[in-house]
Amino acid sequence: KGLFTYDPGFVSTAACESKITYIDGANGILLHRGYPIEQLAEKSDYLEVCYLLLNGELPTADEKAKFVDTISNHTMVHEQLSQFFKGFRRDAHPMAIMCGVVGALSAFYHDSLDINNPHHREVCAYRLIAKMPTLAAMCYKYSIGQPFMYPQNNLSYGENFLRMMFGTPCADYEVNPVLARAMDRIFILHADHEQNASTSTVRLAGSSGANPFACIAAGIAALWGPAHGGANEAVLTMLDEIGDESNIPEFIEKAKDPNDPFRLMGFGHRVYRNFDPRAKVMKKTCDEVLGLLGIENDPQLQIAKRLEQIALEDEYFVQRKLYPNVDFYSGIILKAIGIPTNMFTVIFALSRTIGWISHWNEFHSSPNKIGRPRQLYTGEQKRDYPA
Ligand code: CMC
Repeated sequence: KGLFTYDPGFVSTAACESKITYIDGANGILLHRGYPIEQLAEKSDYLEVCYLLLNGELPTADEKAKFVDTISNHTMVHEQLSQFFKGFRRDAHPMAIMCGVVGALSAFYHDSLDINNPHHREVCAYRLIAKMPTLAAMCYKYSIGQPFMYPQNNLSYGENFLRMMFGTPCADYEVNPVLARAMDRIFILHADHEQNASTSTVRLAGSSGANPFACIAAGIAALWGPAHGGANEAVLTMLDEIGDESNIPEFIEKAKDPNDPFRLMGFGHRVYRNFDPRAKVMKKTCDEVLGLLGIENDPQLQIAKRLEQIALEDEYFVQRKLYPNVDFYSGIILKAIGIPTNMFTVIFALSRTIGWISHWNEFHSSPNKIGRPRQLYTGEQKRDYPA
């Protein structure tokens, strides 16, 4: 044991230095490049946050216009990539398809890529930021049997995504600005969160010098699980199962039972031992969006609010400092926008791509080493093969 520090789940091991995101879990603080998440969600927009995470500073007006223009120029995916979708069953989970098609981007951008060249790395980031909404919307269109929609570059990032999701080639599609703004805010709130499981996966995969699109596919795979990004889908499934406010106590008891694997989805966080600041903004956005749509009495929202209230007063949750996290309210907003539940984690992946690629870029911009954790061997001692 003396040779290594044994730290299962990396609860107290820093694997890298980073200048991108700061979290103070005890006080519920999240800063991107020094800027509080609440201010970014209120005053900025997703593409500006992408620029900030990638470059370290907010853009000037000219830099922003140039960045938005560059991203617009990369929104289409190679026509041949659309063939990949046809190999999947129509009822495949969209995260399974995303792992495949994002990984497949590496087949289109590999041979001339030099990851030691900062400009090449920058172009990888532009491609990913621009193409993720296109690929995400293609997953949805494929599942419902509608034609893929090409991106429309005069629209904002959020508007373009909604049009590719819900528009069809046979009719004009009016994007509701309230929903586009809500979409943009969801993207911002998920943009980065330092060394979470998926970002650490991207950094570790990247540390071997692997193709960045393949590294991002690894991040998507890590994000999929219900303990991480899959929680937003799991929250809605849980609210459906609860069904009525009168059933909440039964689910709270299940979550507290040490012999029952059930957990309150959207509750708890490895780092936050206080309110997740993203959850506060998300709850406010949820109230605003549902109010503007005239569906503030949505039964699932009522169940979620009551569940939150009961859990926050329950000794089990208080003692363990378990608070709602970013995923608790995001699903209700996404559902109100019309996004199907199995697409929720895809939206998370789309938003988090900028965090992943910024960390990948930071890794390759500084002196680095391949990641190689050690283990505590607990298996058999040396023994001879039977004669
Ligand atoms: N419901 C009931 N009990 C819980 C929950 C929960 N959601 N979360 C933690 N606990 C209990 C856990 O059973 C343990 O109790 P005890 O000390 O008696 O054994 C204690 O709280 C500490 O839990 P832990 O599993 O050691 O904490 P962790 O830091 O390893 O896990 C977590 C963090 C997020 C995986 C966990 O809280 C969880 O499973 N939450 C539900 C899933 C979820 O909402 N995930 C999204 C996280 S935020 C977005 C993201 O990162 O993608």
